[in-house]
Amino acid sequence: MSAEELKRAAAERAVEFIEDGMTVGLGTGSTAYYAIKAVGRLVDSGYKLRCVATSLQTEAIARESGIEVSGMDEVERIDLTIDGADEVDPSLNLIKGLGGALLREKIVAAATETQVIVVDPSKMVEMLGTRAPLPVEVLSFGSDHTARALRSLGCEPALRSRDGSPFITDGGNLILDCRFPEGIEHPYHLESRVNNIPGTVENGLFLGMASKVVVARPEGIELIEK
Ligand code: 5RP
Repeated sequence: MSAEELKRAAAERAVEFIEDGMTVGLGTGSTAYYAIKAVGRLVDSGYKLRCVATSLQTEAIARESGIEVSGMDEVERIDLTIDGADEVDPSLNLIKGLGGALLREKIVAAATETQVIVVDPSKMVEMLGTRAPLPVEVLSFGSDHTARALRSLGCEPALRSRDGSPFITDGGNLILDCRFPEGIEHPYHLESRVNNIPGTVENGLFLGMASKVVVARPEGIELIEK
């Protein structure tokens, strides 16, 4: 199976958890894309769902797929969110945000009952930070100062750019991709230290949020549950 086929298989398995009448969070990225398309087919077939998007890009894909998108403050709770991840550790802690949507993704995840993560096997790691950098969304005001404070935590922050210009998030902020040479040994401790730095808006550590991870392997789908 190709990488795209694995992503599609994981996403379509996750969509099987959706029940008629649910409020559903729609994730961002190339794997979540296939889930949005499958949710569109459920809506076509008559399912009544309320959906919330984790990015402007996802909102556009959802609307193109015939899904009505509600604003985050129009819903009280979200029953189930399907989203991708950049790394998943054995405790189902995650790094997210290489797609740049970590802030809205975390707000949606925090309001979600069941967070289902869809990945291919390349995202499974023994320790967070060994494969992906940790994305940290920061205000542009004083971002060099914020980067220096992040560097003092033992990482090398790099300003994310796209087409030669700084990448701007849906919230109008910058992203510093923080590479930890030895990985992230104590993610909870690191998260609180990152959050204490003035100028940080959100970080890509999603700790204790995922309840199911669907891994599409060439030999079959693996469902890991908490
Ligand atoms: C976006 C994300 C994505 O979920 C993550 O980057 C995984 O994306 P993909 O499925 O394209 O590898 O966190 O902010």
